[in-house]
Amino acid sequence: MQIRPERPADAAVIHALTEAAFEGLPFSGQTEARVIEALRAAGALAISLVAADGDEVLGHVAFSPVSAAGWFALGPVSVWPARQRSGVGQALIREGLQRLRAQGAGGCVLLGNPAYYRRFGFEPDPDLYAGRAPPGAFQRLTLAGPRPAAKVSFHPAFEVA
Ligand SMILES: CC(C)(COP(=O)(O)OP(=O)(O)OC[C@H]1O[C@@H](n2cnc3c(N)ncnc32)[C@H](O)[C@@H]1OP(=O)(O)O)[C@@H](O)C(=O)NCCC(=O)NCCS
Repeated sequence: MQIRPERPADAAVIHALTEAAFEGLPFSGQTEARVIEALRAAGALAISLVAADGDEVLGHVAFSPVSAAGWFALGPVSVWPARQRSGVGQALIREGLQRLRAQGAGGCVLLGNPAYYRRFGFEPDPDLYAGRAPPGAFQRLTLAGPRPAAKVSFHPAFEVA
């Protein structure tokens, strides 16, 4: 398995795999695939990586700038349902975080299940979020401090209907 930046030809499979991964999940509004396209159209897909096995795309992760300078949001992140729980998601996230670190990012935030994201060093930080989220869902990983002084909001592309 190789982790590499997305190519123009990957856009359709990223859309399909994102829809498939989030289908039926209770916390999802099924907008994730369109969010990725809106981020791409806005030039806000700061990092977009695919996990590929030869020509087959197994998973995808996006990172986009948030309102705090030098900080990024992780997500959406998706692995085809039949390929989940075999390390693809972790490999994508670790590579993305390494790339953020290498480019001197201040840190990364996300909305997700803390039981999954703790392993990467994320910690719940509800006071940092300008929006509303279930307890524990908004998480922060500081890469090169300081923690942002003002509350953080995601890129407007996340509000796509
Ligand atoms: C979340 C997701 C990207 C993880 O990728 P993955 O390749 O399945 O996960 P990995 O194989 O890297 O990691 C597996 C580990 O994560 C755990 N895990 C996977 N999904 C989890 C979840 N939603 N909540 C908590 N733990 C989860 C597994 O139990 C496993 O733990 P273990 O290593 O202690 O056994 C993938 O499952 C997915 O696409 N899910 C549907 C879409 C989604 O929920 N995206 C994230 C929204 S925040």
